[in-house]
Amino acid sequence: MIYDLIIKNAKVLSFDDKDSIINHANVIIDDGVIIDIMQSTEKLPQARKVLDHQGRLLTPGLIDCHTHIIYGGNRAHEFEMRLQGKSYQEIANAGGGILSTVKATREASFEALFSSAKERLTQMQQFGTTTCEIKSGYGLDFDTEIKMLKVAKALNTQLDLNIIPSFLAAHALPPEYQSKDAYIDHIIDHMLPKLAELNLCQFVDGFCETIGFSANQIQRLFQRAQALGFKLKLHAEQLSNQKGAALAASMNAYSVDHLEYLSEEDIPTLKAHNTVAVLLPGAYYFLKETKKPPVEALLSTGVDIAIATDANPGSSPFLSLPLMMNMACTFFNLTPYDAFKGVTINAAKALDIDRAHGSIEVGKKADMILWNCHHYNEIIYNATYNYRETTVLNGVLSADPYP
Ligand code: NIG
Ligand code: FE
Repeated sequence: MIYDLIIKNAKVLSFDDKDSIINHANVIIDDGVIIDIMQSTEKLPQARKVLDHQGRLLTPGLIDCHTHIIYGGNRAHEFEMRLQGKSYQEIANAGGGILSTVKATREASFEALFSSAKERLTQMQQFGTTTCEIKSGYGLDFDTEIKMLKVAKALNTQLDLNIIPSFLAAHALPPEYQSKDAYIDHIIDHMLPKLAELNLCQFVDGFCETIGFSANQIQRLFQRAQALGFKLKLHAEQLSNQKGAALAASMNAYSVDHLEYLSEEDIPTLKAHNTVAVLLPGAYYFLKETKKPPVEALLSTGVDIAIATDANPGSSPFLSLPLMMNMACTFFNLTPYDAFKGVTINAAKALDIDRAHGSIEVGKKADMILWNCHHYNEIIYNATYNYRETTVLNGVLSADPYP
């Protein structure tokens, strides 16, 4: 038997359920899958390509489980407005914020959205991202929401990266609606049934917030989404406590995201339903938030914590997961190991892809990063030094630099 690829002499940070770290391991890859992880003393089988990683770090490919990278225009001017004292909510209520990106995204062609998102993804790949969730939510009408999801599908086909799309029509009230209830009814009665026939995404997301939708409106949305076979995730407790996280978890959402205002009494509900807590330290930092998510209580209750960029034009323009790991450690007191777990196996759980992704284990997809360092601390503490040497995606070694 001649295998496709062997990465020999690697320090494997596996993120299996024993948290194994295997020094001088030889990872055998065939047909896109990890076939074996051998000790250095065992005789190597034959392979078409053997790469000596010289004892350095090999991790699962990084998974960014919450992004909004398909959009038109940018909001750099809002950055300056916020520096002058305007809040994110004030800018949104004055017609800026999400709605200004909605206008630009409605006006943008498919090709323009594709090429700007591709540029962002190319940078994300350079920092080690191999799987990226992307939300719609800057269309707020059926055609533009579908245009965004089709861009996501085209990116998935054309780039060396796994894309997981989510439907976020419940992101903001579109300008042509006066009533949030009426817009939610429209999503429920018209958008979701048509979307269910198109096979463009598995997840439905929402923004549960004073400037978004109430827990009651989200509940109505989620009941219909679930009845149509969609999986759930929710932006919850970012700027205020709306009890969205407990609602979503009680409906078996795969993740609840942001969580700065999550109250401790709701944490057991997340644990009981295996809902992942996704922390977005880039948005916390960029909006100069001071209220932190209840990380200690999440950890002590045994809730899985994931970390993501939330990459979007308004509240977190960041594309680098190493930088987000750094912020999760400095702002939220995660250990570097837990931060790394947050962009690998726990991010895979948030997207329901953990059976195939997120760890280096026999039988999993061979999506991995070869790093030019020996310890994961180096990648996190020195987050703007790019330690990524090369990427293996679906068992194929990337031709670097990325095209
Ligand atoms: O996750 N919270 C809502 N949505 C995004 C922000 C989107 C925007 O400002 O354009 C977020 O932070
Ligand atoms: Fe978001």
